[in-house]
Amino acid sequence: MKKQKSGTSNTMWGGRFEDKPSDIMEQINASIGIDKRLWRQDIAGSMAHCEMLAAQGIIPKADAKKILKGLEQIEREIETGAFTFKRELEDIHMNVEARLKEIIGDAAGKLHTARSRNDQVATDFRLWVRDAIDELSLLICDLTDTLKDLAKKHKKDAMPGFTHLQAAQPVTLGMHLEAYVQMLERDLSRFSDCRARMNECPLGSAALAGTPYPIDRKATAKALGFDRPTASTMDGVSARDFAAEFLFACAQCGVHLSRLAEEIILWSTTQFGFVRLSDSWSTGSSIMPQKKNPDAAELIRGKTGRLHGNLINLLTVQKALPLAYNKDLQEDKEPVFDSFDTLSLGLQAMRGMLESASFNTARMLEAAEDGFTTATRLADWLVMELGIPFREAHHITGTIVKMAENKGCKLHELALSEMQGVEKRITQDIFRVLRVKKV
Ligand code: ARG
Repeated sequence: MKKQKSGTSNTMWGGRFEDKPSDIMEQINASIGIDKRLWRQDIAGSMAHCEMLAAQGIIPKADAKKILKGLEQIEREIETGAFTFKRELEDIHMNVEARLKEIIGDAAGKLHTARSRNDQVATDFRLWVRDAIDELSLLICDLTDTLKDLAKKHKKDAMPGFTHLQAAQPVTLGMHLEAYVQMLERDLSRFSDCRARMNECPLGSAALAGTPYPIDRKATAKALGFDRPTASTMDGVSARDFAAEFLFACAQCGVHLSRLAEEIILWSTTQFGFVRLSDSWSTGSSIMPQKKNPDAAELIRGKTGRLHGNLINLLTVQKALPLAYNKDLQEDKEPVFDSFDTLSLGLQAMRGMLESASFNTARMLEAAEDGFTTATRLADWLVMELGIPFREAHHITGTIVKMAENKGCKLHELALSEMQGVEKRITQDIFRVLRVKKV
């Protein structure tokens, strides 16, 4: 590969370099395409750092003022789309700083005092993940609200409960949906645990060994809403377990959504007929005019693959990295951004789909009575009313089920005398438990 000879090596770190990086080197090295999403956090981090430097007398107040004004301008430029991101400036940190220099001149060079891109990026990334957790938490709450409303509405609507996907016992749709509420509430608490653990500020760790300037790490930590500075500078710049934890919380939440999606897919089949998705949350087939496909549910299920992949990706990136910062860590952002995007989309799609779906409760009730689902209740009746040991009650019930099966009828369609033929102490009261209606 041809080297590009020129005197214009990188102005941020190029002091000892004579040549520009080769084009492919620039390509593999640049992360701006991905990490520009950190711009808000990068500017917030720089502002806090700048204010602290001035307050500590490390840089003149007048320069700090210029820097802050310049950063505000950059913020507006990025917000309005007027900012040009440049690949040759590698990443978000150097893009912002280079622009700052264009705006305010040499004072810009003082912002990076007592700081390295290593603690800068670690700080930005924590800020970003923290915001992401807050956004996802709101979306999870929205979805649990929807599920809670539906569970309340269908509190008494019977449906078959399954084990092994075989009709097991009657449950209610309310009970079924409540299970998902619980899963999502655990997801919420997982995100909040992750947030509490990661809320420490790496700023001041500098490259890895801290810095000789009289910085005030507590001040920057506080200004950025962190609980405290990270305790170890070497860990501060190289730890990414917070991001892996975030990815696990996303993956697990995605698994919960995927399980619910799978049920919706099953329930919306003609065979089940439990739920009808609205037109706005399904698609048609280009060849089969009768079809209405649950694509949103399938995509929620399908996108779980990305969530899992992203977690494994970041775990693998971290594996065997010696302390402290290594450029491998630049690979940490893409999986995190992707999981955030994927999960927030999935949570919103699930909510929209559920809110507009209609449940066929009559069909569910009918299905709840298929497959002798009240057999366990019959056995429990024998135990509670007649004092028969459960194992024996189970056996008696099995015989009665077999009888109904041979006759091709439901349990409550058997005559009392037929059941008494199996256990003579059975009374009319048994019919109380054989129908599904009262769950
Ligand atoms: N873009 C880099 C990253 O995301 C910033 C830190 C670069 N540090 C360095 N020592 N080259 O990891």
